Amino acid sequence: MRRWMIGLAVLVIPALGLFGCMSVVLPAVPAEVERPAARPPVLAAFGDDPAVENLDDWTNRRAPLLRTLFQETVYGVPPESAEARIADTRLVEADAYGGLARLEELTVDVEVGGESARFLMMLATPNNAPGPSPIILIQTFCGNRAAFGGREDVSAPLGPYPGVCDNGFAEPVVELVFGRAISEPPVQRILARGYAVAIFYAGDVVPDETEAGTQALARLAGGQPRWGAIAAWGWLYSRAIDALSDNARIDLDQVAVWGHSRNGKSALFAAALDPRIGLVIAHQSGTGGATLSRNAEGESIEEITSTYPHWFAETFASYAGREDELPVDQHMLLALIAPRPVLLGNARRDAWSDPHGAFRAAQGADAVYELFGVEGFEQSDMRETNFDAELAYYFRNGRHGVTTSDWDVFLHFLDAHFTRAER
Ligand code: GCU
Repeated sequence: MRRWMIGLAVLVIPALGLFGCMSVVLPAVPAEVERPAARPPVLAAFGDDPAVENLDDWTNRRAPLLRTLFQETVYGVPPESAEARIADTRLVEADAYGGLARLEELTVDVEVGGESARFLMMLATPNNAPGPSPIILIQTFCGNRAAFGGREDVSAPLGPYPGVCDNGFAEPVVELVFGRAISEPPVQRILARGYAVAIFYAGDVVPDETEAGTQALARLAGGQPRWGAIAAWGWLYSRAIDALSDNARIDLDQVAVWGHSRNGKSALFAAALDPRIGLVIAHQSGTGGATLSRNAEGESIEEITSTYPHWFAETFASYAGREDELPVDQHMLLALIAPRPVLLGNARRDAWSDPHGAFRAAQGADAVYELFGVEGFEQSDMRETNFDAELAYYFRNGRHGVTTSDWDVFLHFLDAHFTRAER
C-alpha cells in the first residue's frame, strides 16, 4: 500500500466512526414541528409601521431597505462600481462528456477603486444546443479542480489559501462528512438537462480566513468601511455574470445562482443586489442566510460573528444577544429577491442552520411576492415542497451537506421555472 493511502486510511477510518455516530447524536429538528405555526416578526419595512400597501409603495422602500438597513447592518456595502473582464480563455476540452459540452477555463480580472483582483472560472456549455442555454453559477468550497473530479488540466485555487478541501487529504474527509456533491456537483447531469454551468472559487479573491480575508476586503473597499466576506462572495457572482455577458452560448435572461451554506448566504445576498440573477438555490444557508436571526434556534449572531468575524459588517456583531433590536431580519432579504424564484434547502439533523427559522422567513417574505401577483410561498408543511411556487422550501432527513439526490431536487426546481432544451 502506498504511503499516502495509509495516511488517508488513518484519517478516514476514525472519521467514518465519528461521523457515523454523529448522524445519530447530531441534534435534529423535532419531526412533530415540521409545520411551524408562528408567523415571522413583522417589521417596519413591510409590516405595519405603516404597512406596505401596494407594489409602488414596496418599490419605493426597496432601495433604502437594501442599502441603509441590510447592507449597513448585516453584510457591509460592496464597492459602488466594478468592472470584470476576461483576461484569458483557455480551452480545456471541446467535446467533454462524450461531446456533450465545451469546457473552458476563464481568467477573470476585476477592477475596483484602483485595485484589481483575479479569479478562475470553469465554464461548461452544452454543445449543439438549439439556442443559448440557461446557466447555473456555482461557488464551491473546494476549488475548480475538485469540482471536476481532480482533473489535472483544471487549475487549483489561486493564492496561498486553497479551498478547505483542495489541499490533499482533506478532500476525501470533507466529502465523507458533507457528501461528495459538496465539492463536485454533478456537472454532466446538469449539462444533460440542458443547463450550462459556471464554477468558481470565491476564495481566489477573498480568502475564507479571518486575517487574510479582512485584508482582501479592506483592499477592495477602497477606503470605505469594511464589507463582509459574505457580501464580497455574493458580489463575485455578479462579476461572474459580467464576464459571461458577451457569451452567445449563454442565455442571460436565465441565470441561476447556487450556493451551499456560507455560499448559500452569498447567493441570497447576490440576488438581492443584482436583478440579472433570475433564480436562487440556497441550500442550508442558515444564520445570515435564509433563517431569521430572531428565531432563537440554531446558530446565534454571537456564535457566527465570533467564529467568523470577517463574514459580516462590524455592526452585525453588536446585535449579539439583542436580535430583537435588529432593524431587519432575513425574511426581508428574501423579499428583496421577489418575485424571482428561490429554493431553500434544509435537513432534519442540521438544526445549526435552523430549518424552522428559514421556513418562517419564507412565510414572512410571501407578503411581498404576493404584491407582485405571483404565487409566493404556498407551503404549510416543511415536507411538501411546492416546486411551482416562486418561494419553495425543501426539507429532507440527514445532515448538513450536499447529496446527489439534493441535486435532483435542485434540477426539478430549475426545470419548473426555466426553459431549456434537454439533451
Ligand atoms: C459553519 C457556520 C455556518 C455556515 C457553515 C458552512 O457551520 O457556523 O454559518 O453556514 O459553517 O458554511 O458550512
